[in-house]
Amino acid sequence: MISLKTVKVIKPDIYWVGAIDWDRRLFDELIPLPDGTSYNSYLIKGSKKTALLDTVDPTKTHKLMNHLKEVEVDIDYIIAHHAEQDHSGSIPEVLKQYPHAKVICTPKCKTMLIDLFHIPEEKFIEAKDSDTLSLGNKTLEFIHAPWVHWPETMFTYLKEDKILFTCDFLGSHLATSSLFVEDENRVYEAAKRYYAEIMMPFRVAIRKNLEKINNLKIETIAPSHGPVYNNPKFIINAYREWISDDVKNTVVIPYVSMHGSTVAMVDYLVNALMKRGIEVKPFNLSVADIGELAKALVDAATIVIASPTVLGGAHPSAVYAAYLANALRPKTRFVSIIGSYGWGGRTVEQLKEMIKNLKVELIEPVVIKGHPHENDFKLLDKMADEIYKEHKKI
Ligand code: FEO
Repeated sequence: MISLKTVKVIKPDIYWVGAIDWDRRLFDELIPLPDGTSYNSYLIKGSKKTALLDTVDPTKTHKLMNHLKEVEVDIDYIIAHHAEQDHSGSIPEVLKQYPHAKVICTPKCKTMLIDLFHIPEEKFIEAKDSDTLSLGNKTLEFIHAPWVHWPETMFTYLKEDKILFTCDFLGSHLATSSLFVEDENRVYEAAKRYYAEIMMPFRVAIRKNLEKINNLKIETIAPSHGPVYNNPKFIINAYREWISDDVKNTVVIPYVSMHGSTVAMVDYLVNALMKRGIEVKPFNLSVADIGELAKALVDAATIVIASPTVLGGAHPSAVYAAYLANALRPKTRFVSIIGSYGWGGRTVEQLKEMIKNLKVELIEPVVIKGHPHENDFKLLDKMADEIYKEHKKI
């Protein structure tokens, strides 16, 4: 029989009641969302109590409220795993509709929700790490998991059904009508991009948090963006690969060129690296999708930033790329800089200063005057040799 309801059933009495945002193309006014996203909110109906796990972005509150009407239950608890507004933004409206509901979250999340939404303090119950909550025939265990990707984050483990609710962690920005992962290749790419943009700066915290859930028997992972994983190993193993110290034989080249000199150097270096069997990922910063650039940084051994000199320093697009790489803290091992100038400037010094978070070795930069000559190409060959030598040790 066809169900005309728009809530989705994960297991009996466990529902997806969130919202799909097909049209969203930018997150935080920063991160491109080529595939839209979803704000997954889940409802667990126990024999005695009912809990709502996270809410949705405030722009989609009406979707959540319609879903809650369809399920026709009262809500006793709102579990807030994370204070960011795309998951917490509808809490005030849910509290208005279900006035006796209590918000359960970490102590830090409580202070943040009070700051953001002015929710009265008496509405909260603080969850300590490993606290449990009985809904009757279902038991929730709260697991503090800070810094994925804010300091207040936590997970919930539903013991009887072996479902781990991870909020942002392990998610993907992917709008899809499928509740569960159907195409692992597609989700792998979306989840890697999401990891690069949001989680990569927190590799150390992720290691600790993965350790923490290592002994749980998990049959399903339900994140708050993208499809639900009924093969948890798929995403856990992907994260283990991304957070490891292993790098690939890949050079990422974010570049910008104003009059063709820098791009001539980039073209030459790309070919020189390819001839040496090195994978190359050039990104023309004038048109590049910053999310794809971030994704390429996840496991590349080397970054070569290519920039002309303008107003005495690096081109602003190259400055942005360097800033981004520094903020995202990829596990890259080597960095270099190439480019051209007209009469002088501090491009190398400026870019070097900007990437201090990266624990990298600097390969001798090649910054030349004017359009490249034969001798300049020889220097790029030398750089390619050096990269080849270092990559062989990986
Ligand atoms: Fe999906 Fe950090 O919010």
